[in-house]
Amino acid sequence: MKPTIYIDRIIPAEVEAYLAQHCVIKKWEGAGPVTNEALIEGLRGAQGLLTSGTAINEELLAAAPQLKAVSTISVGYNHFDIEAMKRHSVAGTHTPYVLDETVADLVFALMLGTARRVGELDRYVKEGRWTGKEGSSLFGVDVHHRKLGIIGMGRIGESVARRARFGFEMEVAYYNRSRKQAVEDKLGVQYAELNELLETSDFIVMLTPLTPGTAGMIGREQFARMKRSAIFINASRGQTIDEDALVEALQNGTILAAGLDVYNVEPIDPSHPFLSMPNVLTLPHLGSATSQTRFDMAMLAARNLVAALTGEGEAYVVEELR
Ligand code: 8YV
Repeated sequence: MKPTIYIDRIIPAEVEAYLAQHCVIKKWEGAGPVTNEALIEGLRGAQGLLTSGTAINEELLAAAPQLKAVSTISVGYNHFDIEAMKRHSVAGTHTPYVLDETVADLVFALMLGTARRVGELDRYVKEGRWTGKEGSSLFGVDVHHRKLGIIGMGRIGESVARRARFGFEMEVAYYNRSRKQAVEDKLGVQYAELNELLETSDFIVMLTPLTPGTAGMIGREQFARMKRSAIFINASRGQTIDEDALVEALQNGTILAAGLDVYNVEPIDPSHPFLSMPNVLTLPHLGSATSQTRFDMAMLAARNLVAALTGEGEAYVVEELR
């Protein structure tokens, strides 16, 4: 008998057609994000859930006793309560590899955009403020041949490091919970302790997954260690940094600029101080958001779910639940 699954968001028709070959499908078709009531109702009798970002917690799992597997259309899975999933014997899968190059492109967009003030100067021209008499006031800083520090050297970190080393001829240091000798040899990057990386890098890129160990890992003390000319990029999760400390560091000139794709609260509050700071480039959490990559992620998540429910084929089960 085919397993029943609930899909809590709109996915590409081709992905749904693949799922329909293997599963009985129930899905959310309302406007906007799924409501909690609809989710609980939809999970009644379902063995699988296809989602992205929905909190998988004790309350949800207790209300869905037949659930066997949750597949998220994302590489990050900080919305999984791992201990609760273990208690309920629910498998969790995610979508590594397919988004690495796309996210690395966006990290470079943030680096180049902050260094050369692209967002700020785009507004400057469009608002008719360009006089031709600006002198050096619109100058930025170089990216090429500068030093990049990567915090979290996973697959995406490697893709960023490759662009930095071979495209921009940058010096690259990284900090990671484990040392990656093969990556060091292949890309010519150096391991550094966190404080050393913070003190010596021109660009600091945050790519670490959000875990209890990484929450708030960059705060007032860490910003104070950075060069006054440093540019800070966050493409991991908003909660890996202390946002108030970042606001303060940018206002006080402790660092030069920041490029952000992620925030403590998403969507960001329109009155957030970041939104009125010219030295902050803000994007709406779309590191992986190209049409091709989002399609590939959805298809991989669908394959993961089918594999987890049927035992046929390989599923990318998250590390803590293997
Ligand atoms: C997701 C991401 O698309 O994969 C991740 O972890 O951050 C993005 O690629 C995002 O979580 C939106 O659901």
